[in-house]
This record gives sequence, C-alpha cells and structure tokens, in this order.
Amino acid sequence: MDIEFDVKHGLEGVAVAISSISYVDGEKGELVYRGFKIEDLIENSTFEETSYLIWFGSLPNENELDFITTMLAKKRELPEEIVKMMNSFPKTSHPMEVLRSVVSLLGMFEKKDKSTFENAINLTAKIPTIIAYWYRIKNNLPLIHPRESLKHSENFLYMMFGSVPEHSSLFDKALILHAEQGMNASTFASTVTASTLSDIYSIITTAIGTLKGPLHGGANEKVLDMLEEIGNLENVEFYINDLINRKEKIMGFGHRIYKTYDPRAKILKNWIKDIFINKKIKYFEIALKVEEIVLNKFKEKKIYPNVDFYSGILYNYFGIPKDFFTPIFAMARIVGWTAHAMEYCKNNRIFRPKAIYNGPKNLKYKDVKGAE
Ligand code: ACO
Repeated sequence: MDIEFDVKHGLEGVAVAISSISYVDGEKGELVYRGFKIEDLIENSTFEETSYLIWFGSLPNENELDFITTMLAKKRELPEEIVKMMNSFPKTSHPMEVLRSVVSLLGMFEKKDKSTFENAINLTAKIPTIIAYWYRIKNNLPLIHPRESLKHSENFLYMMFGSVPEHSSLFDKALILHAEQGMNASTFASTVTASTLSDIYSIITTAIGTLKGPLHGGANEKVLDMLEEIGNLENVEFYINDLINRKEKIMGFGHRIYKTYDPRAKILKNWIKDIFINKKIKYFEIALKVEEIVLNKFKEKKIYPNVDFYSGILYNYFGIPKDFFTPIFAMARIVGWTAHAMEYCKNNRIFRPKAIYNGPKNLKYKDVKGAE
C-alpha cells in the first residue's frame, strides 16, 4: 500500500487564516498589535485601551475609551447562582479547572441575544471576578465585590487582596503583554470552535482548556515549581544539567515562532530587574542563573526564555499563588481569542483538515467468542 505522507506535524508553518490583529517576527523578536509595537503599547497604553485596539483595529478616542472602560467595569459581577455553585466546588480544584467550568456554566445564565462583541466584553469583564472569587473561596476568605471606579487590572488585585498594591501598573502592563499572540494553540483551538458557529462560552471554554497545558500557558506555573525545587543558586547547575541529560524540556524556554529572545520575556525581565534593585525578589537570581546555563547549552537550537519564564516571578512578587498564574494569562488572552473568533467568522469556513490513515482496511469481523 502506497501512502503519500504529507503531514505537517503540529501544523508547523501552515497558515490557516489571514489576520490583521497581530504580527510576530520570530527571528527579530518583534511583536506588533494592529500595527503598534508592543514596547510602545507597554509604555503608553492601558489594558482597556489595548483591548479596544485589538478588538476594533484602531486606538480609541476619548469617548470610545470611556465606553470600553465603562462597559468592562459594569459587567464584572457574577450571577448569584454561579457564586453559590462555586462555593460547592472541591477546594482542591485547580483555578484553571474552575475558570474553564465557570465560563461554561455562565453560558446557561447569560442572555443569548447579545452580539458577539457584547459577549466578548461581558466575559472579559467577568473572568477576573471568577479568578478572584475562587481565590477567596478556596482560602475561606469573604468575597470582595468588584469596584466600578477601579481599572480592570487594579480591580482584579483589589478583589484578590482587598487593596491595590504598589507597582500595580506593572500588572496592567503584564496583561497587555499577554493579550494577543497570533495563531497560537489556544487561539487556534478557539477559532476552530468558532468556525462551527458555536457560542462564545464554548469558544472560550475550548481556549481555556488548551491554554491550561504545560507546553502552552500552563508553563508559567511549572516554571515556579522548578525555581522552588532548585531552591538556591548553588543547585542550579546540577538541576538544569540533570534535566538536559534526561532530555526533559526546561519550562519557560523555547517557542515555535520565536527563535530569539521573546520580546515579552525581555520586558518582564527588565521590570523585575528594576524592582530588584531596591528589593530582593524571590527566585530572580536563580532564574538569571537558569537562563545563563540554558542559553549556553542551547545556542545552536536557538532556545530562549519565553513569556512564561519571567511572568510568574512578577506575579509571585504581588503575592499571587502559582496555580493562579495561568488563569491570569487567560484573563488577558481572552481579548485575542475573541478578536480572532470575530475576525475569522467574517469570512468563515469550517475547519476540517484530514488525518492520513495508515491502519488496516480488510480485517475480518470476529465476535467476542472468536466466531467469524
Ligand atoms: N527545553 C529543552 N529543549 C527544548 C525546549 C526546552 N524548553 N524547547 C525545545 N527544545 C528542543 C526540543 O527538544 C527539540 O530538540 P531536538 O530537535 O533535538 O528534538 C528542539 O528544541 C525543537 O523543539 P520542539 O519541541 O520541536 O519545538 P516546538 O516548536 O514543537 O515546541 C514548545 C515549542 C512547545 C514551546 C517547546 O519549546 C517547549 O515544550 N517548551 C517548554 C514549555 C514552555 O515553556 N511552553 C510555553 C511556550 S510560550 C506559550 O505558549 C505562551
């Protein structure tokens, strides 16, 4: 039997859509949202403004920014029934399991006649509340309800901890960094769901389930596991060499597209360095040593830190537990997921690739007793 193998393993290099949402130059280490360099947006924009840009394709004027900020602020509260259900979840549930399940549950409670854009805003507004409420429920703490007067990022930290901490603008900027990144695994998965004309809750549930994996967004939590296990500077060399010898992946390194330093990792590292000058930041020195060894070992393979390597150290500085890192990624990336779903559906065609069958075709049926 002749089988023509034409499989693009992991769809590497395959274009599945034409998009004007973001551009990644993996050789130069550049990331652009709707024509604007990420460094520019970090410097000048807010999460609300960047979300508008990603959704609508241009920067908002004052009224438009006010509109998006107000919409996001007003939709934060969760239905009472959902909060009641969250209180009955096992406290051992991972926050990504809770987020995936609550987004799915919300689909049964929200009005069905909204436009996709209204749904996108509604879910973007509610995801921080789901995460923060779960943090409070899991830790037997009273809920802190959202405050409309606070920015999206500030309100999240306020709902988690009861106040807005120093350097909260860095948290806002970290959300901007994570908001969009082209046709990555979770965006692709959610675009496939969108292409069947499914609803937004199914689209985002798909995306969250895909982001959760340790090869994708789940890597940020695994990085902190690794840094904790290493424990001190003296152990770094042995620990990393041991991983390499066992041919295990080092979490927070490598990327399908970036074959140089991920610009987002560079930005995060510089922020942490700046704070570190005044205060010790846990795990930063260990991370720098890990980076030095990995860059040295994998020069030829072009394996560099990705966004997940330094994000956890920053979140840890804000007092956020490591199992909440990937939900925070989702809290930002929902903007990219929904923008791609809306863009793709303007010129929709259902995704239906193929698998090349290499199994037998002429087996004779036998029943459980072996009779033909
Ligand atoms: N540690 C050690 N070796 C690595 C790493 C790593 N982190 N990443 C890639 N390599 C090696 C592979 O073993 C492979 O080597 P080989 O050619 O000798 O077999 C080579 O580099 C190519 O790697 P692939 O896994 O084929 O690259 P791919 O594009 O399929 O995967 C991925 C990219 C999944 C991100 C990979 O680099 C990885 O697993 N990294 C660790 C997990 C991680 O940090 N994920 C977060 C990515 S960013 C994000 O999703 C938000």
